[in-house]
Amino acid sequence: MMYARSVQLTEPLTDIEKKVLEQVKPKPSEYELMRRVFEKIQETILSVLEAKGVEAEITLQGSIAHDTWLSGERDMDVFVLFPKSWSTEELKTKGFKILLEAAEKMGSYMIRYAEHPYVRVVIDNVEADLVPAFKLDDPSEIRTAVDRTPFHTRYIKENLREELKDHVRLLKKFLKSIGVYGAEIKTRGFSGYLCELLIIAYDGFIDLLKKARYWRPPVKVSTIREEALLDNIFRELVKRYPDSYMYVPDPVDPRRNVAAAVSLKSIITMKIASYCYTFNPRIEYFFPPRDQGLKEDKIRDMIRRRCILLVILPVKEALAPDILWGEIQRIADRASKLLRNFDFTPIDWSVWTDEREVAVIALEIDECSKPYPRLYYGPSHHSLKRVHSFIKSHVMRGSFGPWINEHGELMALSNRKYSDAKKLLIERANEYIVTPHFKGLQPHVEALDEYVDKLKEDMMNWIVSFVKKRPYWMDYCID
Ligand code: UTP
Ligand code: MN
Repeated sequence: MMYARSVQLTEPLTDIEKKVLEQVKPKPSEYELMRRVFEKIQETILSVLEAKGVEAEITLQGSIAHDTWLSGERDMDVFVLFPKSWSTEELKTKGFKILLEAAEKMGSYMIRYAEHPYVRVVIDNVEADLVPAFKLDDPSEIRTAVDRTPFHTRYIKENLREELKDHVRLLKKFLKSIGVYGAEIKTRGFSGYLCELLIIAYDGFIDLLKKARYWRPPVKVSTIREEALLDNIFRELVKRYPDSYMYVPDPVDPRRNVAAAVSLKSIITMKIASYCYTFNPRIEYFFPPRDQGLKEDKIRDMIRRRCILLVILPVKEALAPDILWGEIQRIADRASKLLRNFDFTPIDWSVWTDEREVAVIALEIDECSKPYPRLYYGPSHHSLKRVHSFIKSHVMRGSFGPWINEHGELMALSNRKYSDAKKLLIERANEYIVTPHFKGLQPHVEALDEYVDKLKEDMMNWIVSFVKKRPYWMDYCID
């Protein structure tokens, strides 16, 4: 198989894209702010290291180091690289403590958890993550997930041409606007590093969009120069990541799939939006409307004669966002299956949480109330045992029927166990609220139209897009 790499020049940017860049390229003052904050972090950590007699390297990583960050962003990734002679345990305790001590001297901070703990400090509105990792010479020595990051930075600095940095910015902004930027469970979209690899592989923003319209998952993207190895690498990746829809070997560690977490929904959203943008490029693809601009009356208007139920759950403890979003997505999926099992037709669901107090699941169903009896098809007359139990159960339930129709088929008409979807969701809560942190909780279930006036602003935006259904950019996918 061939993974063709076209030998053509990067397509020049259009006026629209240049205009977008005017807004998304960081201003000199922003670079200056980042430099100042990093210097302060460097100095402070260094003083703690010296006091402890520990040698470590303080490095800038991620999009700031790659120079692919967007104007307005205030996130900084600082990795402190400790000797590889240390054990992972030492890194988590001794290394982490040094960063914690430095953070205390700098300003407000909080402890966060990924594979291992790290510290987030806020300095002049910049949120800097201080991550302890090992200082390694070769990717083969990687011990924890974060050890890969310095190699990513080196790879991007060596392989992303100056001109293409702006293309990464365009791609990030485009993906953000259409809602598929970020690898977190909440989004299951494209990570920053994946964007950079895509721009390198496809050699430019428009070049990528023009190819993305032909994507058919599983999408395989060639990021390795040694073409002879690619077949094997992809075969290995598919084996290791059987559930992925996109395979992008990490150039610094080809056994890892950089796109492991990208959902089918994200890939197809990117594909269709790319197609739409390339035939009708509009600046709006990069700038979603800030306010969906719908007020209570308008929403009421749109949900008249629709069944939308909200399942509201309290968030009892501080959970890592990936855990929280993962659990409420699972609950929503189970709720939708429960509804189907009781003969309702779920149409769509979506979840939202403020990540602090409340989690909400919105479920749209064809009808909230099904008062008429339901038709049950009986077994074939070939299996009289099953016929017997069908007759027995319907006689006992007091059904209308069973009867035998003109085709010799058994049928019965019987009341549903639940004719009301809300009642079902309340009474059978324990059948779909099954995840570790929500199990046993009794949800508050309410029809959206009874809840509209209680919606707070951030929740309102989510509900409005759930009610509208159509992503805003599709309005420009015409002609
Ligand atoms: P970030 O999530 O901060 O991404 O991860 P980013 O590239 O800096 O992009 P933005 O602009 O902040 O959104 C920082 C680094 O951590 C590694 C990558 O090397 C990335 O460059 N990383 C992060 C991963 O390898 N995998 C992940 O899922 C997340
Ligand atoms: Mn970052």
